[in-house]
Formats: sequence, structure tokens, C-alpha cells
Amino acid sequence: MKIAVVGTGYVGLVTGACFAEMGHCVTCVDVDAEKVAKLKDGWMPIYEPGLKQIVLRNSEEGRLLFTTSLAEAMVEAEIIFIAVGTPSGEDGSADLQYVLAVAGEIGASLSDYAVVVTKSTVPVGTAEKVKAAVARELQERGAEVAYDVVSNPEFLKEGAAVEDFMKPDRIVVGVDSDRSRDVMRELYKDFSRNHDRILFMGVKDAEMTKYTGNAMLATKISFMNEIANLCDRLDVDVENVRLGIGSDSRIGYSFIYPGCGYGGSCFPKDVRALIHTAKENNYQPMVLQAVHERNEDQKHVLFRKITARFGEDLSGLTFGLWGLAFKPGTDDIREAPAVVLLGELIAAGAKVLAYDPEALEAARTELPPHWFEHGCVTLVRHQYEALEQVDALALVTEWKPFRHPDFRAMKEMMKQAIIFDGRNQYNPLNLKEDGFEYFGIGRH
Ligand SMILES: NC(=O)c1ccc[n+]([C@@H]2O[C@H](COP(=O)([O-])OP(=O)(O)OC[C@H]3O[C@@H](n4cnc5c(N)ncnc54)[C@H](O)[C@@H]3O)[C@@H](O)[C@H]2O)c1
Repeated sequence: MKIAVVGTGYVGLVTGACFAEMGHCVTCVDVDAEKVAKLKDGWMPIYEPGLKQIVLRNSEEGRLLFTTSLAEAMVEAEIIFIAVGTPSGEDGSADLQYVLAVAGEIGASLSDYAVVVTKSTVPVGTAEKVKAAVARELQERGAEVAYDVVSNPEFLKEGAAVEDFMKPDRIVVGVDSDRSRDVMRELYKDFSRNHDRILFMGVKDAEMTKYTGNAMLATKISFMNEIANLCDRLDVDVENVRLGIGSDSRIGYSFIYPGCGYGGSCFPKDVRALIHTAKENNYQPMVLQAVHERNEDQKHVLFRKITARFGEDLSGLTFGLWGLAFKPGTDDIREAPAVVLLGELIAAGAKVLAYDPEALEAARTELPPHWFEHGCVTLVRHQYEALEQVDALALVTEWKPFRHPDFRAMKEMMKQAIIFDGRNQYNPLNLKEDGFEYFGIGRH
């Protein structure tokens, strides 16, 4: 099939590359000309395991093309995916300006029947708006072309995006016509080989499913963070509690690790957007509101532990920071708890040596430039470099190389053997026995 994918971010690039890998002919479009030029040269704008190989292979074999021109990508395209960002607006709502701009552009160039698919995470009712935006442009130029709008939310996880896309738990497709249902079934049949993974439903049902999934996962995290904070006060080891409840098959072990709160480009904005949708519909979302508030507060928990140990004024102190990405396996630092902690440490007068296996470049380009002035933050290329004469280490992202570091070497390098551990996955280290002063979340 011939496919156009609009937006080459985490979702668009993975979607385009994976459909090309399945033999389809895909053209990826982005307004960012520099990104497109670099992709054409085989340069990856994001870190995602396995993605580079697929992009390079399919580009070389001519099945994956990149352009800045949507009109060019749409020539003969049977399916057009909209995979652009839907960031939070000031009021917490999902900002649909990019999605609707693309829909308008599609209407301006559409010449044959196509299925327009919203893959971006969008609130209930957006497909209707997309449909109207396409119709307006068609009407403007007096063209009569049939098209359908389908909702196909994406459930991939950053850090495992290619694997998730290739082996999805389920493929949710919201349709309102038999014609678009047939096109989507044909498109996804290669992903459902040993059993049918496609769940067809109404368009609005599909839009709501995406938000509900993310909100549920965010709820589990915030719930467990609340329990961990309580464990702190009761001198209870939350790790034992986690194992105790996770073994209940109704609860399960996933998403019940306490930590510094959820970040990234999805959970925070999607919970906010769902809260906004509820309020817009005169409904007070008490659970969602609490999930959001617990998470906002959770991002400050590690800093509070630091000031409880060192006092409010941290000037003259240097901290090592391991982990900047919002989770392991990605270079994404959007709404990352580590970034909140970093800002607090700087504001309190501390100096920070920060390390992340993949997110150093993102940190260099996306963090406020004044953070790098006067040596407030130094990004280092090796995890142990972040320990040179530091007064304490803050561990935030649970990257694998941080699980079993060389504690003897660490102690020799650090001025004080103190660790603040905000990772939401505990390792079996007995840091106390190794002579460290240890502060975990729900764990001492
Ligand atoms: N990142 C994830 O893990 C994930 C998972 C599931 C769903 N989603 C959803 O998918 C959507 C995209 O997320 P993302 O993380 O890939 O975003 P992103 O910010 O990484 O990428 C969006 C891309 O769209 C491009 N763009 C913006 N306007 C455009 C236009 N008019 N024409 C062409 N390109 C345009 C931008 O230049 C950018 O490259 C969001 O709605 C998000 O909520 C994201």
C-alpha cells in the first residue's frame, strides 16, 4: 500500500519505518526541513532501539522516503497518518493546532479517496474536527473527493517503540464506514498473523481508549507513590509492600514501582487533557485530579530529602546526577523528574555534574542556557565522572548501567558517600553495608 505519515517524531518515524519494513511504500513528512534533510542522510533525530537499522535499510531499498511536502507525499497515498504533536495548551487541554493544520493541508491536496488516520493522541470528538477541516478545504476549491477519517491511537512505549509497534498487544481502530474498516484491516493484517489483534470500534470510543489507558497507568504510579511516601513516614519498606501486592493477580507487578513521578511527553499531558475534557463536560474528575496533583508533588520528593539532609542552602555543595531522560531507553527529557530536580538544585545554589547514557544532547539543546553558566550544571560523558568530589549522588532514571555500579570506586571518588535514590525500580543492593548513607523513596 502507499502510505503518507505526517510528523516524524517518536510516533511518526516509528510508524513510517515499521510499515516500510512490512513492505509498504511510505513517505514521511515533516515541517522541520533540517530534520528531513538529516533523515535523508541517515541521521536519526531520536534515540530508539532498533530504529536506525530499519530506517536505513528501508531508505536504501526505496520504500521509505522523507519530504517536507505533504502534497508530494499524498500522491497516490491510500492512507494518510497524522502523527504530529498534541502538546498541552495553557488550560491543560490538548492543543490541536498542528493536527488541524495538517487536516487542512490534506483537504487542499486530496485528489482521490484516502483514509485519513489520526494517530496522534487526541480528545474525543477530534476526528469530527479533522473531517470538517478537510471538508472546508475541499469546498474552498470546489472539489468533491470521498475520504474517511479513522482514529488509530498509538500505544507504543518510548524505549521499546519498534518492538511495541511490530508486536502490539492490540491495535485499536475507530471507524465509521465499511470502506475504511477494510482498508485498515488490510493495512494491519501483517501484524495480526497468529491471532487477530485488531479491535474495531466507534471513532470516539477509540479516542477515549487511548486517554483511558494512559490515565490508568498514571493512576497506578501515583497511587504507589502515595503509598511509598506513607511508608517513609511509617518506617515501612515499600519494596516488600510492592512484592506483597504485586503477587495478587488482580493487581499485578507492572507500574507499581514508586519513584519521582511520571514524566515524558504523554502521561502528564494526557492526564491534564482528560481532566480538561471532564471539566468541559461539567464533570469533576476527582481521581484524575488527585493523580495529577500527586505526580506534580512527587517530582519534589527527592529534593526535599536532600534539603532535609543538607539544609535549604546548598551553595558550596556539588551533586552528581545519574539520569536525565524521563525513563530508560530514551533520550526524551520532556517533563522529566530529573530536570525538575536539576532546576531545584541549581536554584538552591548547588553545582551539579549530570550524566545520562542517551539524553546528554537533548539536555544540551533543550535545558535553559543559563543553567550552564558559572558551572552550575556540567554534563559529563561518563557516569563516574559525575562523582568527582561530589557531596552526594542523586539517582533518578533507572538505566541498567546504574544497577550494579562499582561502589568501592564510587566511594573513593565522592567527597561524601551519600545516595538519594529516586528510581522507580529498586535493585537488590545493600548500600548500607557498603557504607553509604542511603535515602530512597519509601526505603531507607
Ligand atoms: N511519544 C510517545 O511515546 C507517544 C506514544 C503514543 C502516542 N503519542 C502521541 O503521538 C503524537 C506525536 O507524538 P511524538 O512524541 O511523536 O511527537 P514529536 O513532538 O516527537 O513529533 C512531532 C513531529 O511533528 C512535526 N510536525 C508538526 N507540525 C507538522 C505539520 N504541520 N506537518 C508536518 N509535520 C509536523 C514536528 O516537526 C515533529 O517532528 C502525540 O499526540 C502524542 O501524544 C506519543
